[in-house]
Amino acid sequence: MVLTFADFEYVRHLVRDQAAIVLEPEKHYLVEARLGRLAQREGLGSIPELLGQLRRRTDATLTAKVVEAMTTTETYFFRDHKPFEAVRRVILPALLAARADTRRVRLWSAACSTGQEAYSLAIVLHEFFGARPEWDVQILATDINCDVLEQAREGCYGQLEVNRGLPAAMLVRYFQQQGSHWRVKEEIQRLVKFEVLNLTKPWPSLPSFDVIFLRNVMIYFDLATKQQILARLRRVLRPDGYLFLGGAETTLNIDDAFQREDMAGTSCYRLRSAGQAHSASQC
Ligand SMILES: C[S@@+](CC[C@H](N)C(=O)[O-])C[C@H]1O[C@@H](n2cnc3c(N)ncnc32)[C@H](O)[C@@H]1O
Repeated sequence: MVLTFADFEYVRHLVRDQAAIVLEPEKHYLVEARLGRLAQREGLGSIPELLGQLRRRTDATLTAKVVEAMTTTETYFFRDHKPFEAVRRVILPALLAARADTRRVRLWSAACSTGQEAYSLAIVLHEFFGARPEWDVQILATDINCDVLEQAREGCYGQLEVNRGLPAAMLVRYFQQQGSHWRVKEEIQRLVKFEVLNLTKPWPSLPSFDVIFLRNVMIYFDLATKQQILARLRRVLRPDGYLFLGGAETTLNIDDAFQREDMAGTSCYRLRSAGQAHSASQC
């Protein structure tokens, strides 16, 4: 084993400190493999050399690169399908009435990885609001990882990526083929703005959101971090807004200001009205 126990502990603490990601001891092999690949990419001979440089802090960007190498960025278009159906069938019609005065709708894809989640939402928005140009609709998509954000901004995907979850009719309609890749068309891309944001560090000033997708990222955090993030989400989610988590994630026993609501074969979380919080039990 190239990665000693002490080295593993060092990386574990660093990643926890920087991104609140919890690396369990059984992830030792995974950390070693990812550090090995990073050392190679950075032109460093070995993991010990990489860690030496990391500890000396001679290269400030190296810490960020190590943290990025430890993130799991698995994603695909219309992941789990039903949350997007809930937005299309239930939430957008509800917002059409609820926001009739401002005609403004804001969504946030927090932890967006390479952008498939945000572009899936953009397609749903485009299909709903395309014939309503007077509506101002925007998606903010954020992630801690600069590498994935670069691909997300490019909006360019390989055949295997578009084969995962994207219906053929949408591929042909909203993407342009460029050699072996597919680039998302401008009409979809302009609905999404990508920014770097570490959920576990102080957030920049954000607008209020009608819908927040925070999917498949909280599973990597400990309880205190989940509580901190949900408490902050409460402040940026509109009182009648909708929060979607990943299939293995919940607010249950973490933050009772949220209550689960069944919707279009899936569930989302909504804020209890002020008087209800702390007194009602979670459904
Ligand atoms: C498994 S992907 C989920 C992508 C997408 N939400 C989905 O459900 O398909 C998790 C993403 O969370 C990001 N991430 C991990 N820790 C983060 C943090 N502290 N702040 C922001 N993003 C983070 C990773 O970089 C990665 O892109």
